[in-house]
Amino acid sequence: MHLNVAAALILNEAGEVLCVKRGASKFASTAFKWEFPGGKIEADETPAQTVVREVAEELGIAIEAIADGPVVEHTYPEFSITLHSILCVQVDAQQPTLREHTDLIYCAPDQLWSLEFAEADRPFLRFLREKAFGGALKTRVFGRMPHFLDACVSTNDELLRLAEAGAPEGTLVVSEVQSGGKGRLGRSWLSEPGQGLLFSFLVRPALPPEIAATVPLVAGLAVTMALRDLGYAAGLKWPNDVLIDERKVCGILCEAQTSVRGIEGIVIGIGINTGAVPEAVAYRAVSVERVDRLELLAKVLKVFEALHAKWVQQGLKALRAELDACDCKAGKPIMVKLSETPTEGVSRGIRDDGALLLETAEGSVTPIVCGEIVQWD
Ligand code: BTN
Repeated sequence: MHLNVAAALILNEAGEVLCVKRGASKFASTAFKWEFPGGKIEADETPAQTVVREVAEELGIAIEAIADGPVVEHTYPEFSITLHSILCVQVDAQQPTLREHTDLIYCAPDQLWSLEFAEADRPFLRFLREKAFGGALKTRVFGRMPHFLDACVSTNDELLRLAEAGAPEGTLVVSEVQSGGKGRLGRSWLSEPGQGLLFSFLVRPALPPEIAATVPLVAGLAVTMALRDLGYAAGLKWPNDVLIDERKVCGILCEAQTSVRGIEGIVIGIGINTGAVPEAVAYRAVSVERVDRLELLAKVLKVFEALHAKWVQQGLKALRAELDACDCKAGKPIMVKLSETPTEGVSRGIRDDGALLLETAEGSVTPIVCGEIVQWD
């Protein structure tokens, strides 16, 4: 059985979404005429057309025919679902009008979550979004328990709460917007609604604390490699910023869930700029604007899962080749902030225990365990 889904957004003249109508039909194929092994149904409209007809009926608009436009299909074989299209129908305050066919716009599931919807329609949208993500996800563990939120204070806080309640490794929290996004060293993470990929996922490494503490580098590598895979010249800046053209595209904040037994889990919080960046950080931030966020998310998790499998065996040593290939500061002059006064030197790369090797003017090489490479402020 295959579920065909279509939805129509009803907009007012200002283009605001008034409501969402959805239609679904259970047929064996997405063709206009559906054929089953046991028979044939000669349906005279596609699910998308059904939605438009129902909308028109509800609005009291007479329609003669509904064109079957260039339907964009998103097929999720794992879930046996095809999202046909999202049709936008614009209504006039005085007289509802189903506009010309050219007024119908088709939008990918990823674009759905940046639109404003009536409360009653949220479960349906969440369903579509989670199905779209599920279709793209190619991992065994990471991302398999997704929680998609419209808004929250911080995805790290949400996930820490779930972790305390016993959430398994791989649990994922994604939010469209955060009111209190947290950055490293007590800073905040700013992102406009719909302009970033903001998520946190849980690892439960049964490893000594000094090895578990290197997980931010594994996450940084995963984002760098995923972005490179999409064609961006991304590089990792120790300990876990991802840069493109010397500007920050991604920040990572890891927080531990601890108990008397020690580290129970680590929440890996990642913010990737995928649209307009807030003015306050525009001089040092960059964005990957042409990506489908669900695809990027699925890719980061897939790369992370592969790196994680090696890391749990042997720690960072197992990721030497990846670290050397992604470290965009190795061999370059840098300034490192340990306390108030920055120290200058040349980066000699990242050691197997996660320390940054800083060669000073006198020629000595010092391992830096915590701090950061000063880049902008
Ligand atoms: C930094 O560069 O200082 C780290 C920024 C980390 C931001 C992400 S956005 C998703 C997750 N939730 C948070 O509150 N912070 C991280």
